[in-house]
Amino acid sequence: MSSHFSDKNIALDLVRVTEAGALAAARFFGRGDKNGADGAAVDAMAQAFSALNIKGTVVIGEGEKDKAPMFYTGQNVGSNNGVEYDIAIDPVEGTNAVAYGRPNALAVVGIAKRGCMFSSKSSYYCKKICVGAEAASVIDIDAPIDDNLQKVALALGKDIRDLNVFVLDKPRHTRLIAEIREAGARVHLHSDGDVAGSLMAVDPRCQIDMLVGTGGTPEAVVSACAIRGSGGQMLTKLDPQSEGEYNAILQEGIDVNLVRSIQDLVSTDECYFAATGISEGEILKGVRYEGNYAVTSSLTTRGRTGTIRYIEAWHDRIKLQSMSNLDLY
Ligand code: FBP
Repeated sequence: MSSHFSDKNIALDLVRVTEAGALAAARFFGRGDKNGADGAAVDAMAQAFSALNIKGTVVIGEGEKDKAPMFYTGQNVGSNNGVEYDIAIDPVEGTNAVAYGRPNALAVVGIAKRGCMFSSKSSYYCKKICVGAEAASVIDIDAPIDDNLQKVALALGKDIRDLNVFVLDKPRHTRLIAEIREAGARVHLHSDGDVAGSLMAVDPRCQIDMLVGTGGTPEAVVSACAIRGSGGQMLTKLDPQSEGEYNAILQEGIDVNLVRSIQDLVSTDECYFAATGISEGEILKGVRYEGNYAVTSSLTTRGRTGTIRYIEAWHDRIKLQSMSNLDLY
């Protein structure tokens, strides 16, 4: 039997890609310039990717929804040699959070063995329910929210009044929020960032027990890569927010009504995830500047081994800026 040490853990290389994205986007923190942040992160991540000896294809990008600078579906990344990978990427997950100085913005990427990732260029939104390992087997995306809350509370050995639920603060969630409150649980409203929300829901060290509601489909695929490595479950169902989105999904030949678990979104353990904090969050610190250093906090997971790594990097701003054609430091 071969040891897991005998092959390369590309998650460690991926961290350099998300670090580059976070450093680039962080220069736009609080400056009210969403597209500036996105564009800088895309350029930096594309450049960092080109140093990786992989043949990557973006199968679910982010920019197409909001016409922001983007990695587009079908785009090749990496050196174009080596192992073939599917890529799900969001250079700035929480663009508004960066532009307006709010927490939980991340640079994120998930990769999986070629052909194993859910791929769509027209699905922007999906419904999600996400919990950690202890409650993974009790959730049901088609069941009423109070059933889910009761079952999750039981699985966690908690009173329903002690459950902490992450929900994006969007008008589409008005009823969902009211139902969660009626059931007695505690609602944590966030304007952006449901990848951070999913990471919190599966991490037993965070107070969030569950994420529910509709968020981005690319974000769901990226989160699935992370959860395959860290444990937990997320069930999803596409939730097109317009007739145009619905029709485009049908034209792609994708079943809108199917429930997809993380195993359906990423159908292999040969997957990796990396995230670097741009702004401050419960899971990762944001980019900070300490004298001559820019400091980043990152997280990687690997599906096959289940290893989770937290990496703090101190980037020498003077040395690195003299070697870079981008404004990262
Ligand atoms: P981006 O900043 O990458 O656009 O995503 C932020 C985000 O809040 C995601 O976390 C979430 O999945 C999605 O937007 C929800 O979309 P919308 O804000 O359109 O409801």
